[in-house]
Amino acid sequence: MKNENTLAALNAISKTVSSSLELNEVLDSTIEIVLEILDADSARIYLLNDKKDCLNLVAHRGLSEETTMLSHMKCRKVGDGLLGKTAINGKAKVVDNLPRANDPYVDSLFFNEGLLYSAYIPLVSKGNPVGMMCVSSRYKFKFSGDCVEFLTAVGNQIGIAVDNANLYENLKLAYNELKEAQEQVIRTEKMASLGKLAATIAHEINNPLAAVLTYIKLLIKLITLGRFTPERMEDISRYLNTMESETARCGEIVKNLLAFSRQSKITIKPYSIEEIIDRSMILIAHDLELKDIRIVKEIESDIPLIQCDFRQIQQTLLNLMGNASEAMTGGGTLTVTAKHSEKGDFLEILISDTGCGISEENLKNIFEPFFTTKEEGKGVGLGLSVVYGIISKHNGSVRVESEPGKGSTFKVCLPVHSHQVCPDHKTKEGINNGKKTSYSCG
Ligand SMILES: Nc1ncnc2c1ncn2[C@@H]1O[C@H](COP(=O)(O)OP(=O)(O)O)[C@@H](O)[C@H]1O
Ligand SMILES: [Mg+2]
Repeated sequence: MKNENTLAALNAISKTVSSSLELNEVLDSTIEIVLEILDADSARIYLLNDKKDCLNLVAHRGLSEETTMLSHMKCRKVGDGLLGKTAINGKAKVVDNLPRANDPYVDSLFFNEGLLYSAYIPLVSKGNPVGMMCVSSRYKFKFSGDCVEFLTAVGNQIGIAVDNANLYENLKLAYNELKEAQEQVIRTEKMASLGKLAATIAHEINNPLAAVLTYIKLLIKLITLGRFTPERMEDISRYLNTMESETARCGEIVKNLLAFSRQSKITIKPYSIEEIIDRSMILIAHDLELKDIRIVKEIESDIPLIQCDFRQIQQTLLNLMGNASEAMTGGGTLTVTAKHSEKGDFLEILISDTGCGISEENLKNIFEPFFTTKEEGKGVGLGLSVVYGIISKHNGSVRVESEPGKGSTFKVCLPVHSHQVCPDHKTKEGINNGKKTSYSCG
């Protein structure tokens, strides 16, 4: 056995050990290298079980199936036979004449396989026994001191591989446990928020329904008692008006909930943000004009397309512009800006108003479903939770900055489609019903 050959073999084994976490792969290739370099005939590798009282055959080469299927070959008690004894005393052992060895199991090796020489090598990891390796030969080869040294070095490498595999297994177990725990938390959270949502919706719809029911009963009573008279028309008309507004409120809640639940089905395509902004502005321009609100649109030049669901982003802008408009009861300015984000492949859409602003206390709750500061009939508190849901689905983000008394800015961040640029970003005229509004573009 040449020195350079053994070094090359050890090098090859340590490379496999450090590059693979598949223990079986490491053991098979180690056996192959050992047999080739020593020109030996068979090799077996055993690993200790968790209780450390049994050695289990985990890899072998050069033995007939008949032999490897024998129970004492597949599994050996620690202390039993030469293999089991060497595992206890931890020192490599060489046997030159197997038939004469003091081992009840040598028959299987000598008579079945014709093996005459064997080296028993303990496998050690960080000073602790982890298993045994047994290399055997028929007649051509005896195990010299050099060989034993080489095999001991191989044994240490196998020890490292076993250690790595155990660490990897533990890591995999810990990871799976963590994943399972995390999924459980998400499931619980989902159930909790679903329960909360269901309770709130029930409450929100129940109140107007109860009012409508009361008035219906009242009207029936008036009819049956014959008091449905022209003199009572004023009362009756008041009842009917309340019923109308309360029913409309239920309808509004249901409409918003539908928008909320439809978020799962989105059709993503590249769109120009300016087009979405323009189409949204057309829809609310009249309302803004009535409220004496000026619109300013600022679109940065070379703005890329965004990956989005057109209707949903339009819905988002309408909700945000609607809120801005409702915040500016005495008129003001609504500024819609689209620009590149500092965050690389993102685009920012800013919706700013000069309205009442949001108190620090309310700022924490505005994205909660059914949170509203508006009087009954004016708001149901679902607009911003719809916005939040849509933007999350688009892998974007939405933030708000506000100063009470001065105004608020909602900042929506959306991923861009590619590096395509929307054509024509020149100064345009406003759409505020023919009134010219100052749009500063590009
Ligand atoms: N631009 C804004 N200015 C001031 N307050 C706002 C603005 N946008 C949202 N809010 C606050 O957030 C709350 C929740 O908004 P939203 O979810 O759209 O529900 P709603 O408009 O039905 O009240 C509003 O009631 C309001 O208090
Ligand atoms: Mg709203």
